[in-house]
Amino acid sequence: MAIVSERGKMHNPVTDSGGVFLGRIKEIGPRHPKRDKVNVGDKVVSLTSLSFTPLKIESIESIDLQRDRVNVKGYAILFARSPFAVVPPDLPESVVMAVLDVAGAAPQAARYTKLGDYVVVLGANGKSGLLVMHEAKKRVGPTGKVIAVVRREEAAKFVRESGLADEVVIADAKDAIDLYQKIYNVTNGRLADLTINCVNTPDTEMGSILVTRDGGKVYFFSMATSFQRAALQAEGVAKNVELIIGNGYYPDHDIITLEILNENKFLRDYFLKKYS
Ligand SMILES: NC(=O)c1ccc[n+]([C@@H]2O[C@H](COP(=O)([O-])OP(=O)(O)OC[C@H]3O[C@@H](n4cnc5c(N)ncnc54)[C@H](OP(=O)(O)O)[C@@H]3O)[C@@H](O)[C@H]2O)c1
Repeated sequence: MAIVSERGKMHNPVTDSGGVFLGRIKEIGPRHPKRDKVNVGDKVVSLTSLSFTPLKIESIESIDLQRDRVNVKGYAILFARSPFAVVPPDLPESVVMAVLDVAGAAPQAARYTKLGDYVVVLGANGKSGLLVMHEAKKRVGPTGKVIAVVRREEAAKFVRESGLADEVVIADAKDAIDLYQKIYNVTNGRLADLTINCVNTPDTEMGSILVTRDGGKVYFFSMATSFQRAALQAEGVAKNVELIIGNGYYPDHDIITLEILNENKFLRDYFLKKYS
């Protein structure tokens, strides 16, 4: 409440991001480009961060720790260029919200993964990590590999059961040397062609850089990333890797990401169980 009333936006001091909102359309501007496609009363999810969206909270009704959700009375303003999605009728709204919170991740993984690639996913058992692995797995083909990195044995078991990864490595992404050695071993020294960082904690830039081969790419979806630190660290260890800032937008990212729940029964069941 304090942050939003002071700044008019939600700036999460821990993640430096804001999440998304779900609500009903109260009013549509006369020149809004989607004026003919949506109606007052439609239920929508914002696809732009709340750290970026004018927001007024009148009261907090409840906090749902299980689903990372705060139920509030209030309103927000979406501009003509602010992306949003109408909630589809066949999925619970909380599931749609959870999935679309990270809607940019999977389409960007699809964009950067090539046939035969070794793709390392850090934070593989989280929301974005799972969706990313689905898209990467579809594209690496029989000669490539999706390598999941998780930090707990229980998470490793869950990812193995998902069938989304060819290899599961247990490592703390903050421990760059240990992570490097484990990825070196599992790839026979080849390292990753593409590393996708989906963790929600800081200090994982160096690990992401070290596990990526020279000439490879690191996609930092995590907003806990210090992009300044990533740039300086790549230079510091003389790594010629492309460092990509995780743009959360991709055309039709909502449609692409929700389609994953139709394509993958494991993920559909998981998201339904965890978030509905
Ligand atoms: N670029 C964008 O537009 C955009 C949009 C939305 C979100 N994000 C960012 O994306 C990130 C991930 O979001 P999410 O919703 O997918 O998060 P999530 O569901 O909470 O998953 C985060 C995962 O990271 C793992 N993790 C954390 N620290 C780790 C470490 N040191 N080593 C290994 N694994 C670690 C966690 O493992 P445990 O299960 O063991 O805790 C968890 O599985 C966040 O930083 C968020 O800010 C970016």
